[in-house]
Amino acid sequence: MTSKPPSTDSSNTADAPEPTGMKKGLTSYGDAGFSLFLRKAFIKGAGYTDKALDRPVIGIANTGSAYNPCHGNVTQLIEAVKRGVMLAGGLPMDFPTISVHESFAAPTSMYLRNLMSMDTEEMIRAQPMDAVVLIGGCDKTVPAQLMGAASAGIPAIQLITGSMLTGSHRGERVGACTDCRRYWGKFRAGEIDAEETAAVNNQLVASVGTCSVMGTASTMACIAEALGMTVPGGASPPAVTADRIRVAEETGARAVGMAHEKLTIDKILTPEAFENAMRVLLAIGGSTNGIVHLAAIAGRVGLDIDLKALDQMGRETPVLLDLKPSGQHYMEDFHKAGGMATLLRELKPLLRLDALTVTGRTLGEEMALAGPGYAQDVVRSFDKPIYPQGGIAVLYGNLAPGGAIIKQSAADAKLMEHEGRAVVFENAEDLALRIDADDLDVNADDILVLKNIGPKGAPGMPEAGYLPIPLKLARAGVKDMVRISDGRMSGTAFGTIVLHVTPESAIGGPLAHVKNGDRIRLSVKNREISLLVSAGELQQRALANPITPPSADRGYRKLFLQTVTQADQGVDFDFLRSPETKGLVPRK
Ligand code: FES
Repeated sequence: MTSKPPSTDSSNTADAPEPTGMKKGLTSYGDAGFSLFLRKAFIKGAGYTDKALDRPVIGIANTGSAYNPCHGNVTQLIEAVKRGVMLAGGLPMDFPTISVHESFAAPTSMYLRNLMSMDTEEMIRAQPMDAVVLIGGCDKTVPAQLMGAASAGIPAIQLITGSMLTGSHRGERVGACTDCRRYWGKFRAGEIDAEETAAVNNQLVASVGTCSVMGTASTMACIAEALGMTVPGGASPPAVTADRIRVAEETGARAVGMAHEKLTIDKILTPEAFENAMRVLLAIGGSTNGIVHLAAIAGRVGLDIDLKALDQMGRETPVLLDLKPSGQHYMEDFHKAGGMATLLRELKPLLRLDALTVTGRTLGEEMALAGPGYAQDVVRSFDKPIYPQGGIAVLYGNLAPGGAIIKQSAADAKLMEHEGRAVVFENAEDLALRIDADDLDVNADDILVLKNIGPKGAPGMPEAGYLPIPLKLARAGVKDMVRISDGRMSGTAFGTIVLHVTPESAIGGPLAHVKNGDRIRLSVKNREISLLVSAGELQQRALANPITPPSADRGYRKLFLQTVTQADQGVDFDFLRSPETKGLVPRK
């Protein structure tokens, strides 16, 4: 194979065209021609021809990992993406990045989300590619990839790994992870024995893929499609289906089109796109984590999520999707019911149809192309919703001046207007030590308060906000109590649980000064979370108990503790947010 030596005029001069393909982002040796010569020499060591290397390069972020069964189909997806890229005339190049799985990340996957976003951003920047396919699925991976790609700024398209299949336990359909929590609750309450617990453990995750309910992974899949970041229909196909593989091929082909069209991510991640994503988050009864992730993604393009406006949107957006934990079905049922096209059709009057998507067409145009719906019972109509308002309400009060949230669609209606006595746990260790003690002074009307599980407190804002019901109450049949913390909870969890209390206790937020026996009032109707203690008394407590925020001597932990923002800013690192401020979404 003969070829001409590479031209030496590919450096970035003022009037030179922007380099593309293999000529992009040359390594600095002080001689651009030599840099390209060397790069091509090395890649030819893998058997590539000049003809292949002249094509637009499509990077594929490979998040396959033995530690991540939610991404257990990534090898097949990459093969299909590559096929799509090559059919459309591009050159696919997959590259590894960090992969984070919920159950295999200590102290919590959220601690690593920003690191994954930095890895994704810098690998997109460092390596030559004209567009990138982001393969993600498990909870933190999709937000991390969207955050990183938003900062990198090139054309980017999201490919979701897809949900797992449901299993069957003694005739009952089960799936991670709402049913994981339900069965564990039964075990704690003494309703099932260790043998049955072991048996159901084999059935809860019936295949590779992401959790099969409307947890964070499914929420982020739907949000990615609502943002216009996936091909139409990209959110719902289960991981092991032919539909998922076809979506992968289509995604690869579309990435080549985006490279030619220079359809950069800033043209997709607009205020209109975020408004659509917020609307969808509410209508699907999505995970509360979706708010934190949306805030982080928005921050990367200079936008801030307006929590008060989100709450207002919630009052006019019913929950339409009948999926666990708010409803009954699983993701594979949603897919059979038409997936996001069916949901968007119902939501149409509330959507910004002019938002551009990765196809180069608007959301409205894609919805028209999707055609009419058909009879199904997973996506409800507006007049027969699962829940009359959006799944998530935003609360304010002297306990949470910066806001807190509650997933009202997964809460006990009887507890949403409740006043009770605080039973306080100082941190996660204290909770583990005392929650099941026989002598714990607690009754079913009390409010459980957990401090120090916020962004800095734990650190990483773990999903420990789903406080277990104290053992002696669980055994007495108590299924739900009001629980309050500055942490998060899994989207697969349910209960009357107030989360993301801002500012967090570890930096001296009012939550730090709650004492055993204080009265607390929750009123979801009034969007209120109040500590019934006078301002003077709270001030005295703060003076008597000055808080020193946690710190670390070195490494990622030091970076994390020095720069992580609060929940309302997405728990991103402050230096990763866009330096430009473009205002609130939704636009007024
Ligand atoms: Fe990966 Fe639930 S653990 S999506």
